[in-house]
Amino acid sequence: MIREFTGRVCVVTGAGSGIGRALADQLAAHGARLALADVDPDGLRETALRVARSGAKDVHTEVLDVADRAAVLGWADATAERFGGVDLVVNNAGVALTAGVEEMSWDDFEWLMGINFWGVAYGTKAFLPHLRRSGEGHLVNISSVFGLFGVPSQSAYCAAKYAVRGFTESVRQEMRLSGSGVGVTTVHPGGIRTNIVRNSRAAAGHDRDEVVALHDSVSRTSAEHAARVILRGVRRGRTRVFVGADATAIDVGSRLLGSVFEPLVRVVSKRSGSNRLTPTASPEGYSTPVTGG
Ligand SMILES: NC(=O)c1ccc[n+]([C@@H]2O[C@H](COP(=O)([O-])OP(=O)(O)OC[C@H]3O[C@@H](n4cnc5c(N)ncnc54)[C@H](O)[C@@H]3O)[C@@H](O)[C@H]2O)c1
Repeated sequence: MIREFTGRVCVVTGAGSGIGRALADQLAAHGARLALADVDPDGLRETALRVARSGAKDVHTEVLDVADRAAVLGWADATAERFGGVDLVVNNAGVALTAGVEEMSWDDFEWLMGINFWGVAYGTKAFLPHLRRSGEGHLVNISSVFGLFGVPSQSAYCAAKYAVRGFTESVRQEMRLSGSGVGVTTVHPGGIRTNIVRNSRAAAGHDRDEVVALHDSVSRTSAEHAARVILRGVRRGRTRVFVGADATAIDVGSRLLGSVFEPLVRVVSKRSGSNRLTPTASPEGYSTPVTGG
């Protein structure tokens, strides 16, 4: 188990913004050695400048699309070689999509699954051999509260985040059964104030500005706080980490209320106006704005 990050080789995907950037900042402040990746070169450059200002000395950045399997596999091996090993991997890169299942294009569906599910699977398989060799390696995969319950207009996002949850829980069992020494943590953030919805895709008929405003208004947790909670979870060897009071309430509520939870979500959504299902003039079908999570 990783007790402190000083001198550890820590890998973060999606490090050019939001939770990934906050993780990079805090790991740098702890004296970690950093391998940071993002598909956005400008965001990644800005993060590199920030961690350098925090005194990070051993930092490598890579412009990388996590949906590109060959690129991820190559980056993992190159990272292990460059640093002489890998201790912590956070598969964090992610995107959002607002679309009812009937109107959602296959292209958008596959784009989201490529990043939010396959990106995590590639990152996991590519780095596991290196984490095993660490002796105290740790894998963190970012799911969501949308990996705990289904949400209208978020079928692709929920599918990916449920898949990340199931995949990561299975990996954890395998790592324990094989005595690998690799810790595995699944993270379920609630609403975090980041750029995720601003950078998202939405099907025709959805007002993205409205979705952004809604996400900003319900997201109570900062990316910095999310990163602190995640790193504390790693140090304590937690198997699951819930970020924010909303995430904890959803986890407990969904388990305690059982079958009552789903209709309750519909009632609450209707009252708040957040998940409304209203027919639009658009030929694509129905407009269902909802926050990313
Ligand atoms: N913000 C929330 O409310 C929230 C809630 C639950 C879970 N999450 C999850 O947290 C993770 C981080 O998201 P965030 O909120 O910090 O969003 P963000 O948009 O601020 O940051 C995501 C980063 O991922 C990068 N990225 C996107 N596609 C990529 C690709 N193909 N390859 C490499 N990098 C790519 C983006 O460029 C960006 O820098 C995501 O997995 C997201 O699903 C976020």
